Amino acid sequence: MCGIVGYIGNKEASKILIDGLAKLEYRGYDSAGIAILQDNEIKVRKYKGRLSVLEEKIVDEELIGKTGIGHTRWATHGAPSDVNSHPHANTTGSLTIVHNGIIENYIEIKEELIEKGYKFVSETDTEVISHLVDYFNEGNLLEAVKKAVSKLEGAYALGVMDKAHPDKLIAVRKDSPLIIGIGEDENFLASDIPAILKHTRKVYILDDGEMAVIKKDSISLMTLDGSPIDKEILEVDWDVEAAEKGGYDHFMIKEIYEQPKAINDTLSPRITSNGIKLDDIKITKEELEKINKVYIIACGTAYHAGLLGKTLIEKYVKAPVIVDVASEFRYSNPFIDENTLMIVVSQSGETADTLAALRLAKENKARVMAVTNVVGSSISREAHDVLYTWAGPEIAVASTKAYTTQLVSLALIALDMASKKGTITKKEYEAIIAEINTLPKKVESLLKEEEKIKEIAKDIYIAEHVFYIGRGADYDVAREGSLKLKEISYIHSEVIAAGELKHGTLALIEDGTPVIAVATQDKLYDKMLSNIKEVKARGANVIAIAKKGNKEIEKSADSVIYIPDIIDEITSVLNVIPLQLLSYHVAVMRDCDVDKPRNLAKSVTVE
Ligand code: M6R
Repeated sequence: MCGIVGYIGNKEASKILIDGLAKLEYRGYDSAGIAILQDNEIKVRKYKGRLSVLEEKIVDEELIGKTGIGHTRWATHGAPSDVNSHPHANTTGSLTIVHNGIIENYIEIKEELIEKGYKFVSETDTEVISHLVDYFNEGNLLEAVKKAVSKLEGAYALGVMDKAHPDKLIAVRKDSPLIIGIGEDENFLASDIPAILKHTRKVYILDDGEMAVIKKDSISLMTLDGSPIDKEILEVDWDVEAAEKGGYDHFMIKEIYEQPKAINDTLSPRITSNGIKLDDIKITKEELEKINKVYIIACGTAYHAGLLGKTLIEKYVKAPVIVDVASEFRYSNPFIDENTLMIVVSQSGETADTLAALRLAKENKARVMAVTNVVGSSISREAHDVLYTWAGPEIAVASTKAYTTQLVSLALIALDMASKKGTITKKEYEAIIAEINTLPKKVESLLKEEEKIKEIAKDIYIAEHVFYIGRGADYDVAREGSLKLKEISYIHSEVIAAGELKHGTLALIEDGTPVIAVATQDKLYDKMLSNIKEVKARGANVIAIAKKGNKEIEKSADSVIYIPDIIDEITSVLNVIPLQLLSYHVAVMRDCDVDKPRNLAKSVTVE
């Protein structure tokens, strides 16, 4: 996830671009750059670091021009660096582009372009686009862009500027957001509304497969095959603060809603017609065969994701897995040697305890694999193999999209290991991939339950204690649900393996005590029904999560949220959605600072 902006008009472009980028920094801040058309040349300035670095460096420079494009980067391909920053130019520097998205077939295109004599300077997927447009450019920029994008697979929102066509910018969209701002003698392009709200409230929202030729006094909208489009102008009535959150009240709820896309972005480049391809997981079949112990180490939500990793690796790879929280693991006496594989999971890639565990493993010669969301983070640099979750920046302290993308990443790792080791049949491998592919749509359908969940929240927000119960993978996701509730609503919540209730915790259940029961494991469903009856008999207010069709549960639970049918192994990706929504609405009803809960920080870089 990156942010792009573009301006064409009568004012100085650099200031407008930088102001716009400041409103898009929530989309990523690994580097920032602008390109300005000045005296028939394109001047590019781009630097690693936050936008302030770019601002400081260009303060004394004469960047004068009325047309330009800009970018704030969330690194995916290539670590944060000046050279990997956008805008990216063709070899002569006559055209530049900014890009938000991921080009899945960039390696293939890069190889073809290298054969044709093109030289690449960055490690990004984006650079192929500038050379590809150059390759097709025979004087008609629009045609060149159309031909170039017809070769691209993946997601892109593009802004293109060519010094041979100083009167226009070209914008194209597929699977990444892009809007066109309509001004008076000036027009804009941007990833999101806040970037241009200071200048105009009139916008076109481009849909997938649409493009625009933007001049200072006209905007032509068309499909990729050139057919003109007539689009309604949207009049934005949000204030600037709401606009930064995409119209949502909090980043947390915005990020909850971003999950279908985040899961899809994480999965789709890795699931090919020939199975799973994890480019940065280099561990070979031979190396895997020597591994006799697997640790999954993480903290908080990432630890909860790791619990599913254990289930999947043990089931498909047939190898024993120990999951531990990093702060405990690092001071225990673990058996680590060259036959150990450690998988560390960390959204930020900077969590001090997780990093220490990784270093401990490396000192003892273990192989270390990381699942992280931040390219260039300490954990990504120090691990031997890395699988990035492509969730985009997560701003709310409470993890939501980081968790679901960690779950699917661990599923990819487990299946990749199993297929390398030959511990899974082809049929089983293909069947689970087919199920995984349904997740983005199923998550989307669950988000439609928000109103119902909000009603349930009305019963819970006054509670002093809430209990979560589950069995197997449902117990693991219940832990995440419980953490989510306590961290943002400050209600005391506890999670208990449902079978353990009668060994103590049942004593705490009284009239009206809320119990959230996750009951989606087919083979454990009947057992869960008995546990639900146990708490119901003590007066609990039971809110259950079950698979669609399992109606029996309605006899014992006070309310039921149904998830779409899915294999037991990956139900957590769906179950967590109502749990996140419930916590969110309870916290809002209690008037809590949802995005910045007291005493907590997003990245815990101290012990
Ligand atoms: O950046 P990390 O994933 O390493 O962070 C680990 C935990 O601090 C984090 O998952 C935390 O528990 C969540 N933000 C809570 O929602």
